[in-house]
Amino acid sequence: MPTLFEPLILRSLTLRNRLWIAPMCQYSVEAEDGVPTDWHLVHLGQFAIGGAGLVFTEATAVTPVGRISPQDTGIWNDEQAAAWARIAAFLRSQGAAAGIQLGHAGRKGSVYAPWGTERRGTVPPAEGGWQAVGPTPEPFADFDAPAALDDSGIARIVTAFADAARRAVTAGFDVVELHAAHGYLLHQFLSPLVNTRTDAYGGPLENRARFLLQVVEAVRAAIGETVLMVRFSATDWAEGGWNEADTASVARWAADAGADFFDISTGGAIPGVQIPLAPGYQVPFATYVRDTAGVPVSAVGLITDAVDAGDIVRSGRADAVMIGREALRDPHFALGAAASAGVDGLAPGQYLRAPYLSA
Ligand code: FNR
Repeated sequence: MPTLFEPLILRSLTLRNRLWIAPMCQYSVEAEDGVPTDWHLVHLGQFAIGGAGLVFTEATAVTPVGRISPQDTGIWNDEQAAAWARIAAFLRSQGAAAGIQLGHAGRKGSVYAPWGTERRGTVPPAEGGWQAVGPTPEPFADFDAPAALDDSGIARIVTAFADAARRAVTAGFDVVELHAAHGYLLHQFLSPLVNTRTDAYGGPLENRARFLLQVVEAVRAAIGETVLMVRFSATDWAEGGWNEADTASVARWAADAGADFFDISTGGAIPGVQIPLAPGYQVPFATYVRDTAGVPVSAVGLITDAVDAGDIVRSGRADAVMIGREALRDPHFALGAAASAGVDGLAPGQYLRAPYLSA
């Protein structure tokens, strides 16, 4: 089994290690035009300086209506792509691979950012919000009701994902990830608790997976040999909901349709569920998908200890580990983890005078 600091090869991309930065929304596009700013450059850049093998952008919208909040980033136009190009180039200049997570919020869109305002719930159009869309008109929690997508609306979003992915590759990203987790649009179609359609996109698993698989195929056709990942929530944590067996089946189909790697999280489709939070609580879901579908996976969620991260990879429970909040606390987490694992050569020359002290 490999170690955390052994490279991982996917297609023609060599990731320098298996400690990666999870996608994290920043709600920081103050101009509300989807163009990433200096915040995004510095925020993401620190993780590349800090030794991560792959740095993911936040969920980046493929259409304006696909944003979560008005302050989200996007890549539905060339101005946004050009701003991302500078960021991707910096990440790569530091030896990290640059990953972009492409998302569409669906019925969880047009909401206030979770900080910077006291307001919660749906942003009205007069304040920069929009009519959200979903598989049905059923709202999420107390948000405003979405408009149900018809066949042409779905087809337009498939095309928007492909166009966004093409722009991402042109902007210099090494990895494109589809956000099919956390109750956003693609997950809304997968979950039987959310998707109660009776057409070709609802009902049996094959139908609920149709939209995602169309996106995977269209994106693969748009990006050539670029690495394509999919983030799934492996369970809705709810009786009768989407679960790990469904996830493994659809991951296998997505791999056959052109996806290379799977990033396994949980939850988000249904409000108010009980989630048994504990260190590494989502790792067993990643292992299940890896073993059942025969696909490579990463694990994420409350992994905050370098030794634990190393154990997850070395024991074959996942092929890579992503960290989110721990990287916000310590953007250079990978440098410390490498030092304690006795791995040299990760720190940039500028930082060599500050070696990590051995215990
Ligand atoms: C997130 N998360 C997240 N997930 C995702 O797929 N796309 C996103 O844009 C975001 N945005 C986001 C913002 C912030 C501030 C946090 C803290 C989290 C979830 C994230 O990727 C990760 O799965 C979880 O945070 C669990 O991992 P950690 O933080 O316990 O290592």
